[in-house]
Amino acid sequence: PRIPALEIDGKSYTEDGWTNVSPSILSYLPRKLHLQPSHPVSITRQVIESNFPSPTYTHYNDLHPIVTVAENFDSLGFPKDHPGRSRTDTYYINRDTVLRTHTSAHEAQIFRDNKSEGYTISADVYRRDAIDRSHYPVFHQMEGARMWDRRKVPGGDVARAIWTDFERLPKHGLSIEDANPTTHPERNPLQAEHHSPGEVEAIAAHLKKSLEGVVVGLFSRAQKAAVAAGHADAAALEPLKVRWIEAYFPFTSPSWELEVLWQGDWLELLGCGVTKQDVLINAGVPDQIGWAFGVGLERVAMLLFSIPDIRLFWSKDPRFLDQFSVGENINAFVPFSKYPECYKDVSFWLRSSSSSAGGGMRSNAQDFHENDVMEIVRDVGSDLVEDVRLVDDFVHPVSRRKSLCYRINYRSLERTLRNEEVNQMHESVRKHLVERLGVELR
Ligand code: PHE
Repeated sequence: PRIPALEIDGKSYTEDGWTNVSPSILSYLPRKLHLQPSHPVSITRQVIESNFPSPTYTHYNDLHPIVTVAENFDSLGFPKDHPGRSRTDTYYINRDTVLRTHTSAHEAQIFRDNKSEGYTISADVYRRDAIDRSHYPVFHQMEGARMWDRRKVPGGDVARAIWTDFERLPKHGLSIEDANPTTHPERNPLQAEHHSPGEVEAIAAHLKKSLEGVVVGLFSRAQKAAVAAGHADAAALEPLKVRWIEAYFPFTSPSWELEVLWQGDWLELLGCGVTKQDVLINAGVPDQIGWAFGVGLERVAMLLFSIPDIRLFWSKDPRFLDQFSVGENINAFVPFSKYPECYKDVSFWLRSSSSSAGGGMRSNAQDFHENDVMEIVRDVGSDLVEDVRLVDDFVHPVSRRKSLCYRINYRSLERTLRNEEVNQMHESVRKHLVERLGVELR
């Protein structure tokens, strides 16, 4: 019997019951927006990278997006039942292989290679998610890390070596809120088996100052661009303000998120923390200690360049692409005219759980997941859909069946859609919902 296989970049992958990648998601692999000259994602990458100079930091920008489940989850200490592992959230090539969901998938390998004291990785990452103006199933992240080797530090006093390096980091005039102690026994624990409190204080200080420098680099440019574009008033500009919030990641402890005050709102910018020693031990470098962070590049680029819709990054329209260039100054995006929106609803019944018991039906009230609806809409409408929202949701009082209604907003960023093509797309969405999810249209 023929075993179905996927051919990707000259490599063959066996398909199995876990496979959920589609040709449309795989078509993004060659795009690599972070490497396209003058693309806003690439400019954002370069601005951040300039805070992490070589040779201390090696910049990895072309690591392949197909990784093992072991790399993406196990090596980082994700528990077996972590929701991020589910097929509704992650694109599986097969049971053992995924499209990376974050750049941290490469941490262990780079620690193992042990080529430099620090690194950044910029790359495309893939997550099944909702459809709206700030979510896209492919986006770009930058990860950074810095390590110190206890054996290579004179006298073994690694905390002192970290503080010495800390003193060399550029000074900045940020206003910083950092209300919590560096560690907290329940909320943000010290890895007491592995680190002394003094080491963690030093690592945390170095991490925070390094990332505060990133904010200054990015947001001083963003402020200038907003003023130049008339989106902000130079006289009314507040000094840049950030705050540190406690966080949780399976592969760092203690952990934080950095938020920045931008046009009146606190925005979550990045996640970071002290690298879990088990990750370093399992990567064969038990004598190293250090920090890591991860930041979403589109998120930052949308603020820097005033880009209102994440789909624009994928546009090949010169009216978008020609607005950006690499240089000291950043310019706000000038939107082209907004084309009309077109709302269409689709309502359907989920199969009740009893009617499918033992019948092997795929979609029933229990295993239905909204991301499967999103995926179908993406496959059919690609970038012609602006957002998809659940607008109604009820359970029939007698049959106990559940009904959902989704509202799809069809709108192109580049042209006015024809009625006929919207109708055709919508018809196709309806058909695929029935065929792939087994729902009953109303
Ligand atoms: N990988 C994390 C994410 O995608 C971000 C992160 C990277 C957090 C490194 C801590 C350290 O959300």
